[in-house]
This record gives sequence, C-alpha cells and structure tokens, in this order.
Amino acid sequence: MRVLVIGAGGFTGSYLFSIIGRKHEAIGTSTQDKSFRKLDLAEFNETSKILKEIKPNAICLPAGITNLDYIEKNPSKSRKTNVLGTKNIADYCKENKCKLIFFSSDAIFDGNKGPYLENDAPNPASEYGRQKLEAENLVKELDDFIIIRTSSIYGWNKRKLNFVSRLIEELRNGKEVKAPIDQFYTPTYVIDLANASLKLIEKGIIGIYNISGPDFINRYDIAVNVCKIFHFEKKLIIPVKSYDLKQTAKRPKYGGLISKKAAKELGMKFKGLKEGLKGMRSMQNT
Ligand SMILES: NC(=O)c1ccc[n+]([C@@H]2O[C@H](COP(=O)([O-])OP(=O)(O)OC[C@H]3O[C@@H](n4cnc5c(N)ncnc54)[C@H](OP(=O)(O)O)[C@@H]3O)[C@@H](O)[C@H]2O)c1
Repeated sequence: MRVLVIGAGGFTGSYLFSIIGRKHEAIGTSTQDKSFRKLDLAEFNETSKILKEIKPNAICLPAGITNLDYIEKNPSKSRKTNVLGTKNIADYCKENKCKLIFFSSDAIFDGNKGPYLENDAPNPASEYGRQKLEAENLVKELDDFIIIRTSSIYGWNKRKLNFVSRLIEELRNGKEVKAPIDQFYTPTYVIDLANASLKLIEKGIIGIYNISGPDFINRYDIAVNVCKIFHFEKKLIIPVKSYDLKQTAKRPKYGGLISKKAAKELGMKFKGLKEGLKGMRSMQNT
C-alpha cells in the first residue's frame, strides 16, 4: 500500500511516517523539512498536482495549523489551511478512490462534560474546534474515510515541544512551571496513536474512532506524574487556574475521549500516563 503522510515533519506525522513506513510504502510531505517532499495545504492547485503524481492508496492528514491561540487570532488564515486545505484533499480522495485518514480533536466538544464518546454531540468552544469540526464534516462525506479523534498527545518530539516534553525541558533547566488544575484531558501516548492508526488503516475500517489514553487527568496532575517518573522536584510545579494563564482560545474544562470502541475493535490496550511516561524515560537516551 502506498500511504502519503501529509505533515510528516510534525509530531504525530513523524511517528506515523516511521511506523507506517516499516510495513508499507510511506511518502512524507512537509512545508519546511527538506527531507520530505514540499506540500503546502493552502496551495490548492500545487497540492492536487502532487497528489495526482504520487497516486497514493491512502492519505494520512495529521497536518494543519495546531496552535489554538494563533488560530483564535487568525481565523481566516488558519481556516484556509485547516478547512479548505482538507476539502482539497477530500475532493482528490473522492475523485480517485483514495482512503483519507483525518486527525481530529476533543476540541470539537465544549469541554463541559468530558470524556466524550464518538457519538456525543459536538459543540466547539474555540475557533480551532470549529475548524476541526468543519473539516470532519467534509471528510465524513467520503465513502472511504477514518476520522481519528485524539486528546493531549505526548511523547518525544524533535522539532516542536508538547505539554509533557516542554515540561521536562523546563524542569531540567530548574524552571518553575505553571499547570492548570481545571483543564482535564485523556493524555495520549504518540506511539499508541500511530500504531492504532496503522491498524485502523490495515483493517479497512471506515468511520470515527477515538484514540486516546485511559486516564482522565488535569494538567497539574500530569505535571506531578512527570516529576515522579523523571525525578524532578514537585515543588517546581505551580498549580494555577486557567484564568491565571490568560490564554486567548478557550480550553476545555472537562475534555478528553473514551476509546473503548477502538480498544475493542483493534484488540489494543492504550497506555495510561504513568506507563507512557516510563516508555518515554526508557527511550530518552536512544
Ligand atoms: N497535539 C495534541 O495534543 C493534539 C490533540 C488533539 C488533536 N490533535 C490533532 O492531531 C494532529 C497532529 O497534531 P500534532 O500536535 O502532531 O501537530 P503538529 O506537530 O503541530 O504538526 C502539524 C503539522 O502540520 C503541518 N502543517 C502546518 N501547516 C501546513 C500547511 N499549510 N500545509 C501542509 N502542512 C502544514 C506542519 O508541517 P511542517 O512540517 O511543514 O512544519 C506540521 O508538520 C492535528 O491534526 C491536531 O489537530 C493534536
């Protein structure tokens, strides 16, 4: 199978590219990483041309603008990539019988009563969530698609830091870190996410799947667990409320996802936070 990973230089995309690439022909794209083919989702004609040339059997789309506060301040610029860029890919898939695997988020829910199941009613509270939902609705029109919803992904990442890897870097430098006690997620180990994505593709599954860890936990407690597993001083973690962080985009109070459907259908057990962090610790010098 020839699988195109759009955004192979990104966090999730880099794991997808390497895990899928072990068993299939994987082709990666990036807007800036020169080791991949250049593809900008906002350049519609050029993107269509590249797709027609590569002729993939499946396209993984973890790419897009993911900075919530940037998106809140720049809705039309980010919408061009996140929504219209996705539409362009979906149009190609429809015309060319190509499977589309689109990565979405728990941010499509309002965050008042998470963790959420696949069939809970979406009601995004941020521009990022609205764009993700709009893109999902375009992808759902296809005959052959998978929408993978996930929450608070963590793991080592060479290029851009996530909540956990940023925390580790700051704690290593002896810095204090503010962590909100009122933002709950279900942290997702990036390797589980990539492995589950490959299994979904290989099984020929169609539909919406939550892929997330089993622990429903707030950012402060995530940080405390990081201290325990990586032997940092807990006193460096300062519990705060979301209000104190003055973030532009609204964050969910109770976000997160329940991944029972994927665990059952794929026969997988997704790692809890402690197990995922231990996995990171064992990889840190590799
Ligand atoms: N991180 C989380 O906690 C989280 C939680 C829920 C859902 N998600 C979703 O999961 C997916 C992966 O998230 P992530 O954190 O791994 O993302 P990420 O590291 O921010 O990577 C996003 C990628 O998108 C690419 N990109 C940005 N603009 C582009 C454009 N105009 N054309 C083509 N590519 C473009 C970037 O490409 P370059 O290589 O070109 O820089 C980057 O590789 C996203 O869809 C995100 O919404 C993430």
